[in-house]
Amino acid sequence: MNAKTNAALEALKYVKNGQTIGLGTGSTAAIFIDLLAKKVKNEHLLIKCIPTSLSSKALAYQKGLVLMEPEEVSTIDVAIDGADCMDSKKNLIKGGGGAHTREKIIDYFAEKFIVIADETKFSKILKGPVPLELLPFAYPFVAKAIKKEFGIKTELRRRENGDVWKSDNGNFIADAYFKQIKNPKKLEEQLNAIPGIVENGIFSRNVSTVIIGYEKKVKVLN
Ligand code: 5RP
Repeated sequence: MNAKTNAALEALKYVKNGQTIGLGTGSTAAIFIDLLAKKVKNEHLLIKCIPTSLSSKALAYQKGLVLMEPEEVSTIDVAIDGADCMDSKKNLIKGGGGAHTREKIIDYFAEKFIVIADETKFSKILKGPVPLELLPFAYPFVAKAIKKEFGIKTELRRRENGDVWKSDNGNFIADAYFKQIKNPKKLEEQLNAIPGIVENGIFSRNVSTVIIGYEKKVKVLN
């Protein structure tokens, strides 16, 4: 837990009075939201926030942060978000929490996008399943298209009771079982070109800084 907290604490240094902040999703982002709320309160800052999920929205509201709706936002100064995997070129896989579509909208729109994650997320080459948000109608077609193009299986996320899990946008989330991703930019584009995929979890653009948290230190990649 220290590693995540250390990364979140370092990210606080990038927040300045008067800014609009994009709030990520996940356990590391939740630590950041808590720390940010404390900083805003202690230092009497004027900060507005736009969350990337309903869970982050609820947490930020509960902590007393000022929230904005998308139509109220003109600029996002900094977005701070977690990741499931990241490489030295600052490519990411996100969407472990199924929130990657809203995350990508906010993170790509932000002037600065800062990733906070513990050391276990760092990898020389991006690897692991790639989350996909899909229109429910499209799932069987997308699964077949991915099998044909990449030779891998795609699995729908389900709840414990077997029901299909739905995103904040009312869509399905599926995981495409890629092993290693050699060209993240190309794969990000290829996946989004398949009809029915709303967004995929590869983030190959706009990352300004990656803060890797360790038990007793942080490493910052600019
Ligand atoms: C949610 C995400 C999260 O940022 C990602 O899953 C990392 O979460 P955590 O900080 O809990 O490890 O992309 O869709």
